[in-house]
Amino acid sequence: MNPLEELKSLITEIESSQIAEAATLELFRIRFLGSKNILKPLSASIREVPNEQKKEFGQLLNEAKQKAEALFERTQSMLSGGGVGKMEVPDLSLPGIPFSLGSRHPVSIVMDEIIDVFARMGFEVAEEREIEDDWHNFTAMNTPDDHPARDMQDTYYVASPPGWLLRTHTSSVQARVMTTRKPPIRIIAPGRVYRNETVSARAHCQFHQVEVLYIDEGVSFADMKQTLHQFAQSLYGKDAVTRLRPSYFPFTEPSAEMDVWFGLGDEHAHRITKGTGWLEIMGCGMVDPAVLEACGIDSKKYSGFACGMGIERQAMIKYRINDIRLLFENDVRFLKQFASVV
Ligand code: DAH
Repeated sequence: MNPLEELKSLITEIESSQIAEAATLELFRIRFLGSKNILKPLSASIREVPNEQKKEFGQLLNEAKQKAEALFERTQSMLSGGGVGKMEVPDLSLPGIPFSLGSRHPVSIVMDEIIDVFARMGFEVAEEREIEDDWHNFTAMNTPDDHPARDMQDTYYVASPPGWLLRTHTSSVQARVMTTRKPPIRIIAPGRVYRNETVSARAHCQFHQVEVLYIDEGVSFADMKQTLHQFAQSLYGKDAVTRLRPSYFPFTEPSAEMDVWFGLGDEHAHRITKGTGWLEIMGCGMVDPAVLEACGIDSKKYSGFACGMGIERQAMIKYRINDIRLLFENDVRFLKQFASVV
């Protein structure tokens, strides 16, 4: 090392010194400020420094002395004086301050699980707008203006443009995808939906759904049954028992609802299954040919199935949460109970 480099490294040493005890301070004093201090021989070696660097060398030498003196005085007064100064010397033996990790929202955890299962079956995530027009949310989904099914979902309309609304279900994504892509279509659409509901422990004006849509040549009801059964087993365990119950939705024909056997093992099971042991997990059915045609898909050539499910409900079942409002209040004491981010 040449004298200049040596000097620079001594300055770094002074700057990074952390002295918490008198004995260490005394060693520091001898090394940098004592009668045989390390800077003395170095100042003599200015002779070896090239002329153009002599000025810098001289300045750094002064700086080193000043820094060593300042540190010495500061530390000495802290060690002897007590008071606020004493607090400034870090006690390196203390345990560190734990770094607090965030946690994932239960709705996100369940949503990701559902996406993961369908992704493994070859479905691709399609995300779409939450402010939607009437056509995609209702008309294309075989629910024209005067259709009584519009009453099933109380809608928030936006002030402008007229006829636009906060989507009431993720089924609107079906229309968005079918009007812009050609079959085969295999998508899953997770997202937020809105309904003008009175907020209570069981209902909220905003919640999350996942929509699934599969359109291709020759897709049958059996394909739907098998896919959804596989899904239920991935989510609820390989022994999960499912059943399909006939139902009605304007956009599917025939329509069904899928139930999973939850049992009646305890009070929670009784409450959540309303005493039947069966848990309704989704609406589903074969896409109505009228929907395919409205979206420009030849219903003679193609068929498909769709399903839609609410996420909050699944999260409430999984984590035994008894009030849906907890999922929207963002109370950290509630949220930190769920799996932390890894
Ligand atoms: N959109 C329906 C709802 O919000 C759920 C639904 C039922 C979606 C049947 C579907 C389906 O795709 O086939 O209540």
